[in-house]
Amino acid sequence: MIPLVEIDDLSVDIVQGRGANTKVLPILRHIDLSVEEGRVLGIVGESGCGKTMTVLALMGLLPEGGRISGGRIRFRGRDITGLSRQEMENIRGKRIAMIFQEPRGSLNPLLSIGAQMREILYYHEGIKGKANKEKCIFLLRTVNISEPEKVYDYYPFKLSGGMCQRVMIAMALACEPELIIADEPTTALDVTTQAQILDLFNEIRGRIRSSFIFVTHDLGVIAEIADRTAVIYAGYVVEESSAAALFGRPLHPYTDGLMRSRLGRRNSNRENLYSIPGVVPVSGNMPSGCPFTPRCAYTTEQCRREIPPLAVPLSQEIESGHKVRCWRQVP
Ligand SMILES: Nc1ncnc2c1ncn2[C@@H]1O[C@H](COP(=O)(O)OP(=O)(O)OP(=O)(O)O)[C@@H](O)[C@H]1O
Ligand SMILES: [Mg+2]
Repeated sequence: MIPLVEIDDLSVDIVQGRGANTKVLPILRHIDLSVEEGRVLGIVGESGCGKTMTVLALMGLLPEGGRISGGRIRFRGRDITGLSRQEMENIRGKRIAMIFQEPRGSLNPLLSIGAQMREILYYHEGIKGKANKEKCIFLLRTVNISEPEKVYDYYPFKLSGGMCQRVMIAMALACEPELIIADEPTTALDVTTQAQILDLFNEIRGRIRSSFIFVTHDLGVIAEIADRTAVIYAGYVVEESSAAALFGRPLHPYTDGLMRSRLGRRNSNRENLYSIPGVVPVSGNMPSGCPFTPRCAYTTEQCRREIPPLAVPLSQEIESGHKVRCWRQVP
């Protein structure tokens, strides 16, 4: 069966300035990813590594100056890289829905929750009047909002961050999309609410057939929700595998660093927490060769010279389909 989403050798640049002052900043490089039907792909990496740009490219929503400079994105086997704005608009919201980090910022403060939900159902599904309201209330109930009739009439300021995120999830579910993309949907919430929202995602997953892309900087979230995981570093996928294999045996030194810097049950003392030395290189100021070399304990001459391919290591007994971009593993 063909995957729902296939991202194949995708590169994205941001072009800044004009004429002689034009600068081209490479943002994503040779990204290969796929999302299987009904599965959750987790995308993890530090701030600035390119997680949001990856999903914006997929949605056809790159910021000003952003352009796809190479590769293909296929949705149900169809190349969507060159679609017109109108064609992309028909897909967004209906077949692909997106949930953002800041739930309050994604809601219109001037419209009631009901008005915002109604609009989606009317625009994409042509549902009107009483049937529309009933579906909205049903959706609010689906995301475990008690007293959905009341919340329907509320304006966003009356709701907590967690409630706003529930409403956003209800809106994403409205048209029963094939793919739901959630970009750091719990980051802006307190720890307890984060856990509740993650539970809600897991519950929804069990109920609907949609596939998910879940973007996070938090490996704990990946452990909770993802089937497969892509680790992104400085615009490159550096490791890609099932979530179980990633936790069982991280192969890239960067993934290993992320694991060790994680605040977990066994590692609850913040003061002894490991942190990866150095910072993510900024676009336009990339080291030559592998982008992780300045922070890596295993750097060799070859690493400084050439970027390794994303490939299955030859020399180890590992799960099939576990790929890594590292010369140590893929000689
Ligand atoms: N409009 C823009 N103009 C120039 N550079 C940009 C723009 N938007 C993003 N970038 C750069 O693209 C890179 C990737 O950004 P992106 O937002 O995808 O990171 P991220 O992994 O989502 O980070 P975070 O965890 O902070 O959300 C960063 O280096 C960022 O500075
Ligand atoms: Mg982001």
